[in-house]
Amino acid sequence: DHTNADTLRTPIVAVLGHVDHGKTSLLDKIRGSAVSEGEAGAITQHIGATDIPLDTISGMAGELIDPTDFDLPGLLFIDTPGHHSFSTLRARGGALADIAVLVVDVNDGFQPQTEEAIDILRRTGTPFVVAANKVDTTPGWNPQAGQPIQRSLEAQSERAESMLNENLYEIIGQLSDAGFSADLYWRVQDFQKNIGVVPLSAITGEGVPDLLTVLMGLSQRFMKEEMAIDVFGAGEGTVLEVKDERGFGATIDTVVYDGVVRNGDRIVVGGQEDPIDTEIRALLQPRPLEEIRTEKQFEKVAEVGAAAGVKIAAPDLDRAMAGAPVRVVRDRPVEEVVEEVKAE
Ligand code: GTP
Ligand code: MG
Repeated sequence: DHTNADTLRTPIVAVLGHVDHGKTSLLDKIRGSAVSEGEAGAITQHIGATDIPLDTISGMAGELIDPTDFDLPGLLFIDTPGHHSFSTLRARGGALADIAVLVVDVNDGFQPQTEEAIDILRRTGTPFVVAANKVDTTPGWNPQAGQPIQRSLEAQSERAESMLNENLYEIIGQLSDAGFSADLYWRVQDFQKNIGVVPLSAITGEGVPDLLTVLMGLSQRFMKEEMAIDVFGAGEGTVLEVKDERGFGATIDTVVYDGVVRNGDRIVVGGQEDPIDTEIRALLQPRPLEEIRTEKQFEKVAEVGAAAGVKIAAPDLDRAMAGAPVRVVRDRPVEEVVEEVKAE
């Protein structure tokens, strides 16, 4: 609910990693969907955004989370492609992020786009955790659906556990080679100094409660100040994709990361050539837990506050550019906003 007095915005969490390491599957597990199965060759080709409300997070995290400890409204997850040809999209996802999840296949360890993602996170100074995914593929694994990872480890044979540990320490070593001191997340005292590694499975869901708990803890503890925004400020966002929508013409799927965007607002959007000066005709919000990339039943809303994914319909958006800034004009001279958009 964006109309209440809440002044803390939803943290933006980018999910990055090598192709096929399980980014979309992890988000599917969290939102209870099957987006990955619908993708051609299970390859993600666009950036997505999904809003996960706090009650869903605390429901999944179960005993690990006490929702009364948190006053952040939830998490906005940004899915990115891992295929090598989409490096611009990874950089864009990384630039939007307040925090990130680096997904690494526990058997494959670091791969070229893992390294690339680490470079992006280093460059942008984005705090991150590592999801050591696919623990269920460890030979002899005894799956414990949806359980916290400690519970799951208790149910494993010594042999399975030691095989997993070997892989986990390999990843911790690779992080160290990349210049990051890391450890299994339950051994980390200071998440500002050390990277936490969370063993999990996007398919069985074991360890996912731990990941959500770590992400909420990190956001709440270290980023509350950055999350405090002027909820009535002129909205700012980034175009994820330009898409034709029946009945609306060209629309832009946008992540709003600051302020509020209202229906009827005059906006300036970065274009293929000059910035586009236009007026919002409709604001179309995906339902919570729905990926904006695949949502079919958008809800027409009067306003959207940060952080959120929203589809914006307005004249002339066919000339808009993915990755470009979106700025609400509100009480400023439009020329000033146009210059700002040009400069980005
Ligand atoms: P790109 O978006 O193309 O970079 O891939 P991705 O990282 O989103 O990978 P995706 O989630 O599409 O998963 C790739 C394949 O790995 C799919 O066949 C998934 O079913 C499988 N997979 C993902 N996570 C797990 C896991 O935890 N365990 C097992 N056994 N398979 C998994
Ligand atoms: Mg994917």
